[in-house]
Amino acid sequence: LANGLADTPPMGWNSWNHFSCNINETVIRETADALVSTGLAKLGYKYVNIDDCWAEKTRDQKGNLVARKSTFPSGIKALADYVHSKGLKLGIYSDSGTMTCSKTMPGSLGHEEQDAQTFASWGIDYLKYDNCNNEGIKPTVRYPIMTRALMNTGRPIFFSLCEWGDLHPALWGSKVGNSWRTTNDISDTWSSMMYIADMNEYYADYARPGGWNDPDMLEVGNGGMTKDEYEVHFSIWAISKAPLLIGCDVKSITNETLHILGNKEVIAVNQDSLGVQAKKVRSEGDLEVWAGPLSNYRIVVLLVNRGPVSAEITAHWDDIGLPPKTAVVTRDLWDQHMDWKQRPTDSMTAMVASHGCKMFVLKPVS
Ligand code: DGJ
Repeated sequence: LANGLADTPPMGWNSWNHFSCNINETVIRETADALVSTGLAKLGYKYVNIDDCWAEKTRDQKGNLVARKSTFPSGIKALADYVHSKGLKLGIYSDSGTMTCSKTMPGSLGHEEQDAQTFASWGIDYLKYDNCNNEGIKPTVRYPIMTRALMNTGRPIFFSLCEWGDLHPALWGSKVGNSWRTTNDISDTWSSMMYIADMNEYYADYARPGGWNDPDMLEVGNGGMTKDEYEVHFSIWAISKAPLLIGCDVKSITNETLHILGNKEVIAVNQDSLGVQAKKVRSEGDLEVWAGPLSNYRIVVLLVNRGPVSAEITAHWDDIGLPPKTAVVTRDLWDQHMDWKQRPTDSMTAMVASHGCKMFVLKPVS
């Protein structure tokens, strides 16, 4: 969507993966504080996104959505002011049906203009728009109504289509939103995460500045995967130009999680100005090579070992888009963080741990 908000994939946090419906204004405020104090905000994580369960079950007499009094007593406008005062942005959630998925609050179907106006008046910067209780109306009908309503507010609001990939939103999403979910919900396991990564890869050609494939929010730090598995998770999301929306409790984040989510060089790949989603260019059994172009003629290469034992994985120049006998400067983004120059060659090989990865940026040199 050409609203100037998605030149690179969005970065921030969302309440759902860790807190589900157990949210309140204190959690949101303290998360904003923690994004700043951990340094994550400075690295680009600027959206603080409230998911489902923030509103009263019924609208007021004028038909307006109202913040839930028991959990958001100060209201959303006050929260937006607070988040903005920290240099961050506030996101909110609604649904393109009659009720949200939790069924604890109304959806925006039939109230699109009114709700968009409400969100804009509160100072909302991002809307995630879900797909539950949709009365069987096609998403290609329901979602563009909200696109227009948001545009009518005159406030730039990032529009995230949460249509779960049902009607291949990659094919129509770029005119409607800034990102579109390509899959069902992620869960905090290696198999769910890799399944979703594969599914999202299928749509790689449709991602570009302005509109991105969304394989769902990050589970890094929620405890269901190993450190190596979370590195694979974060690496694939980064090279896939996926939204980097943290899904753990930032208030109690560990150094290990911070080390993954705070890897500047991996973030830079995600935020690269070229905005091209990497693809799986070779898979031999459990051993995979993912690669894609970056600005300045560089290439990102991710070697992924899905198998049970360590193994060598080779990236062939032919697969990753380099001419034969090309010399490159290679940089390892997880381990050494050092440049080394390789003589003219046709491939590179590295040892990769089980359920682990190696991530390199290659720059051709003469
Ligand atoms: C389904 C979405 O896919 C999730 O990300 C989350 O927003 C829940 N609905 C909330 O009910």
